[in-house]
Amino acid sequence: MSLQPSVSPQVASDQVPTSNPKVLAFVNEAKALFKPDDVHWCDGSKEEFQAMLKLLVDCGTAIWLDPEKRPNSILVRSDPVDVARVEDQTYICSEKKEDAGPTNNWFDPAEMKVTLTKLYDGAMAGRTMYVLPYSMGPIGSPIAGNGVMVTDSPYAVANMHIMTRVGAKVWEALGQSDGFVRGMHTVGYPLPTPTSVDVPWPCNATKYISHFPETREIWSYGSGYGGNALLGKKCHALRIASVQARDEGWMAEHMLILKLTSPEGEAKFIAAAFPSACGKTNLAMLVPTIPGWKAETIGDDICWMKFGEDGRLYAINPETGFFGVAPGTSDESNANAMKTLSDNCIYSNVALTDDGDVWWEEMTDEPPAHAIDWRRRSWRPGAGRTAAHPNARFTAPAEQCPVIAPEWEDPKGVPIDAILFGGRRASVVPLVTEALDWSHGTFLGSIMASEKTAAAAGKIGDLRRDPMAMLPFCGYNMGDYFAHWLKMGEKGGAKMPKIFYVNWFRKSPEGKFMWPGYAENSRVLKWIFERCNGTAEAVDTPIGKLPAEGSLDVNGLDVAPETMKALNAVDAEGWKAELPMIREHFATFGDDLPNALKEQLAALERRLS
Ligand code: OXD
Ligand code: MN
Repeated sequence: MSLQPSVSPQVASDQVPTSNPKVLAFVNEAKALFKPDDVHWCDGSKEEFQAMLKLLVDCGTAIWLDPEKRPNSILVRSDPVDVARVEDQTYICSEKKEDAGPTNNWFDPAEMKVTLTKLYDGAMAGRTMYVLPYSMGPIGSPIAGNGVMVTDSPYAVANMHIMTRVGAKVWEALGQSDGFVRGMHTVGYPLPTPTSVDVPWPCNATKYISHFPETREIWSYGSGYGGNALLGKKCHALRIASVQARDEGWMAEHMLILKLTSPEGEAKFIAAAFPSACGKTNLAMLVPTIPGWKAETIGDDICWMKFGEDGRLYAINPETGFFGVAPGTSDESNANAMKTLSDNCIYSNVALTDDGDVWWEEMTDEPPAHAIDWRRRSWRPGAGRTAAHPNARFTAPAEQCPVIAPEWEDPKGVPIDAILFGGRRASVVPLVTEALDWSHGTFLGSIMASEKTAAAAGKIGDLRRDPMAMLPFCGYNMGDYFAHWLKMGEKGGAKMPKIFYVNWFRKSPEGKFMWPGYAENSRVLKWIFERCNGTAEAVDTPIGKLPAEGSLDVNGLDVAPETMKALNAVDAEGWKAELPMIREHFATFGDDLPNALKEQLAALERRLS
């Protein structure tokens, strides 16, 4: 029997809130294919969000947390086979294989549609199909984009409510236009007969997260979790949007955006790309340790940038929420994130305490004496397994962030002054390097790498190259993506943001972190701010511009002067040892690698010798 009570609190199935023929055709095709029992047109209202939470609880997918501790918040535990993005089953189905490039899984679009059409046939039997209009970015902003998603997952609907702008205003903004990304998502667990039994977390062992860049379509099958199911995020705002951005001359990037204000009240906007699990959300919400400086959040994961009338790059955060990794988040690492989690949140795969609250590793110094782990088993410290899944998440409304910047929903966007690239590097890469120019900065982004785990730290061979932190998210050939970056630089000229390469994760030969990181990263941000104004000094080195002695504010910082020196030094031997690896990385792109990047590599080699 279906566990899904009918949920059409506001909009009856026959009340269709748009007359857009393209939308109607899309929804009718989806309905004919998926064969749901019911269709619900989402209105994006608070009541609808509440109805989704209640439905998830009624179906056994979620439980309410203690309303005193976590008002209006639920805990969801997924199936252990469905806990993360599945890069192996993520496809770019461009017409030509070479357009997907060497870093993506390619599949012929027509063949993929044949395969998925078979899987989609009747996949929503016994379920409701939700039609969800959403806007990535402030509705009506010239930088924003629209999507229409159909899904049979109330979990996806509830999360999309937090993460995107959903509802009637999107239909208005769309009018009769064809300008929307079409997303089809099913968990792939139909309930074909009245006696079919539902499960708390329906999903399928077979998963396909497929993108059709030319037709701006996303077809997702088999997973209900995270970026596989919240189609606005990685699928739309990065993979499809990166292709749109290339075609239309803008940028869709895996970057946080923050506003940094000096004691004199001057503000600058900084975008920063880091691979997953390198502290992006922490940096986006940091509290500077240097007196008088203020940091505020615009976004923590995705940044869309377009040229404004003044020729500068303006950025929006296309999202309205944070889908953050919970483990490691604490009052110490990110007090503002913890405050954002006050209420109205969805927690996925974290542990449940005996008093109805959530817990995850490192949230508190002392773990609870007892909890229910993410697999619904009794758990005590020393159990030999974590209480929360390592990819456990919180979904939290951005407007609840105590340091959300007043401009975060400005449809104009914010003018970007600096772009940061960073990864987890135990050696070689200094604390901060300013690129010589845009083209050199593009080179630094293209060779970005991160060590996968702490265990691998220091072993250069264990690096994963993750250009611009876009490896899993670039919807087309990465060689062409580099060319697009260079083209943007040519167009913007002197008005482009300055580019910096940062590394918070340098380790001493004894394996200890040399830089305290977290809030102390504000010192590096201050130097970057002052470099943008031309007031901090830098020295030219073979790898770029490094802070001149005394130019980085270390007042009150407990780091030995020789450590500071080492953090800001050029490890020429280390860089020379890196050259063959960069060459090997570049070889992946064959003829698609822009000459300008080959020249940058040759120039680096010359400067080092
Ligand atoms: C994310 C990621 O979920 O980058 O943001 O994996
Ligand atoms: Mn991300």
